[in-house]
Formats: sequence, C-alpha cells, structure tokens
Amino acid sequence: MPLISEFMTSALSPRHAQRLEICYLSQINPDDGTAVKHGFSQSPKTLPPRYLYDERGSQLFEQICELPEYYPTRTEAAILANCVDELARLTGPCELIELGSGSSTKTRRLLDAYQALSPKLHYVPIDVSAEILVASARDLLDAYPSLFVRGLAGTYEQGLAQLGASSQAARLVLFLGSTLGNFAPAASDRFLAQLAAALAPGDYFLLGIDLRKDARILEAAYNDRQGITAAFNRNVLAHLNWRFQADFDLELFQHRAVYNRDAHQIEMYLDCQQACQVHLAALAWTAEFAAGESIRTEISRKFDLAALSQVLTQHQLVPLQHWQDAPQWFAVILCQRSAATASRDR
Ligand code: AVI
Repeated sequence: MPLISEFMTSALSPRHAQRLEICYLSQINPDDGTAVKHGFSQSPKTLPPRYLYDERGSQLFEQICELPEYYPTRTEAAILANCVDELARLTGPCELIELGSGSSTKTRRLLDAYQALSPKLHYVPIDVSAEILVASARDLLDAYPSLFVRGLAGTYEQGLAQLGASSQAARLVLFLGSTLGNFAPAASDRFLAQLAAALAPGDYFLLGIDLRKDARILEAAYNDRQGITAAFNRNVLAHLNWRFQADFDLELFQHRAVYNRDAHQIEMYLDCQQACQVHLAALAWTAEFAAGESIRTEISRKFDLAALSQVLTQHQLVPLQHWQDAPQWFAVILCQRSAATASRDR
C-alpha cells in the first residue's frame, strides 16, 4: 500500500478525480544528494541519468523523440502499432504498469488493444515527474471514459516497491524506449531482479530495446543538428542548480556524445571548458572541475538480442516473442515471469 496518497481534486474535474489517484512516493524518500556527491567523486565524474528529467528536461526529451535523427521513438512506435493486437491476444486482459511513462503517447496503442479485451482498464504509470504524470493522466482520462489511473510519482525502485494488489488476473509491465540501456550492467541486473521480485509467476514484461548498428547512425541520433540533445544534456546542471542550490555556469560546459565501440554504448558528456569550483549549497559541498574535465551524464547501451534474452531468462523473465522493424534497429520483447521458489505469491 502506498504510504502517501493524494487526490488532486483542486486541479481536476470531479469526473476525473474519481478515476485518478496520484501517490507521491519521492516525499517518503527525499533526495539527500548522496548519489550526486558519489558521482562527482568518481573519475571520470558521473551523474545518475535521472537528473536529466526535471520538468524542463522531460519537455526537451519529448522534443528529442520528434527529431529526424532520433530514430528509436518512431521505430518503436511503428513496431508497437504492428504488434499490439498479437501482444494482447498472447497475454489476455492485464493491468498495465508503465515505467518512465513520460507523456504516455505510446501507451495509447496499448490501452486501445487492452480495452478491446476488457472494458475494466487500470493503468499504473510510474514517473519521477509528478507534473507530467498528472498532465498525461488528465489527457488519458478524457480519451478513455472507463480508465482508472493510479500514478506513482517516484523512481522505478520506489514505484515497483509500491505496486500493491493487481486489479486484473495478470500484470503487464511496460519498459519502453530502450531506457534499460541507460543502466550500467550492474544496475540493470539489480533492476531486473527487483522487477522479477515485484511480479507474480505468469505476469508479463514488455521491453523496448535499441539494437547495435552503424556508429554514424548512433552518433547522429545523440548529436542532433538543432542542438536539442545538447540543451537536454546541459539542463542537468540547471536541475542541480535549483534542486541543490548549486552555482553551475551552464555556458562553461559543452555537450559531447560518442559511441564507445568496445562497450557498445553511446556516452554523453559535459566537457568543462575552464577550471572552476561549483558550490552545492544544499549539500554543503564544493566540487572542483579542471579545464577539459568531463562529467559523464548518461550511457545508452545498444543491445544484442540473443545476449539480452539470456540475461532476461537468468532473471526469470523468459522471452516469449519479439518484434522488430525491417532493418532490425530496434526490438520489442515480451517476457513472462517464470515460476520460481523465490517468487512472491499473490
Ligand atoms: C531515455 N533514453 C532511452 C534515451 C536514450 O536514447 O538513451 C535518453 C536520451 N539521451 C539523449 N537522447 C535521448
């Protein structure tokens, strides 16, 4: 059961308020900046990618998804458009849970398919941005008159820990957009273990992943000509400025994204142009930057389908079916949680 639950009655019509519940999970566990201090003590300096997504960062990410160079979003959307009916037939009626739901645009195709199976439709979006959660829930409630939305405003870990009882015989957890690629292998293993523990045997997991391809295509996708990815990357410092009363001068940091062929990942950096000290007042902490020093703000791993399928199976998430686009740039994998002794009974 969520520890804090609030109905946003002031911002919603009574018609919506009865079908929307927002649980503010990040208030239970406020950010004390430990991860930032830890990341800035590493060499190279790093930041957890979640800091890319404050309100402005989420808006910029929505713009990235529309860029001509950024193929993952539209490629995945086309795959989903072709496979949702088959997917819904395979799983039967499900409660839909979405990790990192953002504006929930892709979700509509899935809601359509699952609504056709069962008019009782429950959707549980999990996102760090409560504002985006409320705004997108409001749009969905307009479009789907029998939909109930229970938004969990917090990290994936917080959300998965608060799933509670399912409203349907089975759950389908959606993790789209290749966000798994933003986790380093150890963090990915921890995440998959937590996910498997939160699911009951027979529940489903739908994963969208970006596949390995020509480095030129990848580097173009993260160095767009309009500079939106650069603004998204730099915004992480603006986020630290407001969240921790820091004094980063954004002009001193330059965006760089390169494909690391050995690690099969895009690495996104902010390169410091001039030596500086940055004070994070709320953390009573000062970070030193040398001229030319970089902060790695994100990795975006590119997967091999066979190798990832093995990893998923090791985590009791057994691939049942997958769908791809014709050039095989992207894949959507349906997994089912297998029965195992460590599983949680419902
Ligand atoms: C959210 N995530 C999967 C995106 C990616 O492609 O790794 C984030 C992103 N960073 C720069 N462009 C998009």
